[in-house]
Amino acid sequence: MRIAGGDPQLGRELIQRYGCVACHAIPGLSSYGANVGPPLHRMGERAYVGGVIANTPDNLVAWLQNPAAIDPRTAMPRLGISEREARHIAAYLVKPH
Ligand code: HEC
Repeated sequence: MRIAGGDPQLGRELIQRYGCVACHAIPGLSSYGANVGPPLHRMGERAYVGGVIANTPDNLVAWLQNPAAIDPRTAMPRLGISEREARHIAAYLVKPH
């Protein structure tokens, strides 16, 4: 999967800034033990986002900006991520690690 306008290196920095590792184990980042949400390895190959919508670039970017808009019962909070930031973050997540 390719995320248009996404820079994985910027995405890595944003993932650290937004504290995603408090809840998720993420490849390439020190988050061992975080287990509130699912581990985010091999996101580029995952079939669904949040178990509810197809894992396409647009859907993944939308999820990161506002998870509850996609699944009202999700435990993942809205973190105030802009679309541009979500593109960078998604690019990091789908990059093969
Ligand atoms: C307070 C804990 C928490 C934080 C912080 C958090 N998430 Fe989540 N996240 C979750 C939970 C719980 C789920 C599972 C949601 C569901 O399936 O409804 C989830 C699901 C996801 C998914 C979908 C995974 C899949 O296989 O469907 C992605 C991608 C994701 N989070 C990325 C992020 C990123 C990137 C950040 C930081 C910007 C972040 N999350 C911050 C709790 C969190």
